[in-house]
Amino acid sequence: MIDLSKIQKALHLDELEKIRVELLGKNGVITKEFKRMKEIPNEQKKEFAKNLNELKNKAMELIAQKKSQLEEQALEEQLQAEKIDVSLYSNRSEIGALHPVQMTMDKIIDFFVKLNFSVETGPLIEDDFHNFEALNLPKYHPARDMQDTFYMNDGMLLRTHTSPVQIRTMKKQKPPIRMISPGAVFRRDYDLTHTPMFHQVEGLVVEDKDKVSFANLKFMLESFLVEMFGDVKVRFRPSFFPFTEPSAEADISCIFCKGEGCRVCSHTGWLEVLGCGIVDPNVFKAVGYENVSGYAFGLGVERFAMLMYGINDLRSMYEGDLRLMEQFK
Ligand code: DAH
Repeated sequence: MIDLSKIQKALHLDELEKIRVELLGKNGVITKEFKRMKEIPNEQKKEFAKNLNELKNKAMELIAQKKSQLEEQALEEQLQAEKIDVSLYSNRSEIGALHPVQMTMDKIIDFFVKLNFSVETGPLIEDDFHNFEALNLPKYHPARDMQDTFYMNDGMLLRTHTSPVQIRTMKKQKPPIRMISPGAVFRRDYDLTHTPMFHQVEGLVVEDKDKVSFANLKFMLESFLVEMFGDVKVRFRPSFFPFTEPSAEADISCIFCKGEGCRVCSHTGWLEVLGCGIVDPNVFKAVGYENVSGYAFGLGVERFAMLMYGINDLRSMYEGDLRLMEQFK
């Protein structure tokens, strides 16, 4: 007798397939029975064929049934195995890190706060008076071209530097003043070392007349630059800013080649890092100060960060690429 009961007992699809071949394959037991037909006496042939066809149909039906049952079971097993419990806790909590610009800014602020400077802020959207006019940059003054400005329709503008916070602080307070002002500034610029938004730190010291000299400014900035960049030489070069007179730019000896000359310092051995000077009398006049003296300075935070962390494309700092950012953990 041909036993169909093992179809029911198949546990897996491949086992069922094996059983199907055993029964109905080219050499299967049922197939073989059909080949036996010619040995059957004529009068029994009809009965034999009928029974055999019934058996074959029964086997096919049982296999199909079992197959769909096993397929359903396999799907169910797969779903169970791949199930994700979204309510489970993950113990892999990533610890974030500060952005290199923020770290640099914090370091700068720390230095000046220890020297008793206050930290002042001002609006990002400025008017012409605070951003230019009061800083001795009258309309049509050619030095306005030093800063490619974003203007709004109503005549307001995105501040091009943090210097306007000098003006706001002097109008709000009375001397003596020792302040820095960190924050975002905006200019129409975009290349390896410029982004349309970047950060500056402005500094201002105002004291009684004749109390503040260029020597004070020089000593303070030298200490600051050594604190930031380590063992560097500092030099001051005469320069021009409308809001200071005399004005200077401060350079540090190149931190990459130690002053020997390399690509980063354009083979000069020096890196320009900030602008500074003695506050121009016209600036004091604009805020109604008399009989005072002061110095000021301004620096780009991204430039400091690029030098401190060896980043060569400023734009990469604002692409949010975690592969870069994770290096600062
Ligand atoms: N405001 C200048 C700039 O954005 C930087 C600067 C230079 C600020 C000299 C100062 C200064 O206060 O004295 O390029």
